[in-house]
Parts: sequence; C-alpha cells; structure tokens
Amino acid sequence: MKFFVDTADVDEIKALLETGLLDGVTTNPSLIAKSGRNILEVLEEICDLVPGPVSGEVTATDAPTMIKEGEKLAKIAPNLTVKLPLTFDGIKACYALSQQGIKTNVTLCFSSAQALLAAKAGATFISPFVGRLDDIGSNGMDLIADICQVYSMYPDIHTEVLVASIRNPIHLMEAAKMGADVATIPPKVIHQLFKHPLTDAGLEAFLKDWEGTGQNIL
Ligand code: E4P
Repeated sequence: MKFFVDTADVDEIKALLETGLLDGVTTNPSLIAKSGRNILEVLEEICDLVPGPVSGEVTATDAPTMIKEGEKLAKIAPNLTVKLPLTFDGIKACYALSQQGIKTNVTLCFSSAQALLAAKAGATFISPFVGRLDDIGSNGMDLIADICQVYSMYPDIHTEVLVASIRNPIHLMEAAKMGADVATIPPKVIHQLFKHPLTDAGLEAFLKDWEGTGQNIL
C-alpha cells in the first residue's frame, strides 16, 4: 500500500521523507490556504522534494478553465497530478487531461457510482473521502469496500483507489485490509501509527537495565 501525506507543509514533508515511508503528497485548496504560500511555488517545491505523485487541485468549476488550470499545474513537474472535483465538468476535464497523458486525481468522491465515472474518464486516482462520510453518520469504509469490489470486476480499470479524509489509524488499516492502492494520511495520523504503549514501556525497561551495565556501544 502506498502512503501519501495530506499536507502542503514542506517541513512536515521533509521530516517524513527521511523515514522512507512517503510515496507521494496530496494537497487541496484548504491545505494550500493553511500553508500561507503561493500554490505554484509550494507545489514546485514539493514536486522537487518528493519523487512520487504530488496532487495539486484546480479551483475553476467549468471544464474549459479547469483544463487550462490543469495544463498549467502539470507544467510544474512530471510528477504533478491534477486534482479535479467529481462534478460533470470535473469529469470532462479529467477525460481531456487524461487524453493528453496528464495524471489526474478525481476528488470529493462519495459514492461508488461516482468512482465508476472517474475510472471511465481515465482518472489515475479516485479519492473517496471516508472521514467526511463518517461525519454525517454514514460508513466511509463501506464506500472503500464497494469501490474496490466494483473496480476488481473490470481488469481494464487502472484507476487507483486513494483513500482520503483519513482521521485515524483504524481507517488506514481497514483500507489496507481491503487492498486499497493508496492512503493519503494527515501527518498527525502518520505519527499516531508509530505509537503503542507496550513499545514505550518495553523501551523504558530495556534502557533502565542497560544503564545498570555501565556499558556504551560507541
Ligand atoms: C485528500 O485528497 C483530501 O484533501 C483530504 O483527505 C480531505 O481530508 P479532510 O476531510 O480531513 O479535510
């Protein structure tokens, strides 16, 4: 399973790159706003740092302007993936950009029918949002299971399931059990993945015993 980080915070991305865990990055207009930086500059910096796909989202809502924005974003770097909302115009733009060989990530997906549309339009990634479905009393993980099942029925679908709006490690591990291709994870949740009270307690005990030996490895 590929791990993307859902952030436009360059320092956070640099720190995570050193773990070797990071396969890509996703951003959205809210995350760019939170960074306080210019979208083109910050995406260029992230694309230089990360060899894998980096999603940058269009902000127009009509297909012709989305296509122009997508073409401009795609010029930033070969690993820039154009993120488009799952609307009629977004799907038109996805089809047009995919025809040009530009990588696309169709976002704001909340149903398996929408996921099928994105696949048919040639999307590189489909981003179903689990946390936002949970927020309204639906079950976000059921959507991932449905999309994985539908896509698996058609060998000609190459769109990767990119689980988005992940709020906790359980979301991630449920998605992994379902065989989802990618998870985009907020930095806070990536750090939660390392934590286990038995790891902390075990390390503390080992170090206390080691101190008693008076030895040093270096
Ligand atoms: C992913 O591409 C989205 O930007 C993101 O996962 C949305 O997460 P949120 O629902 O926590 O804002």
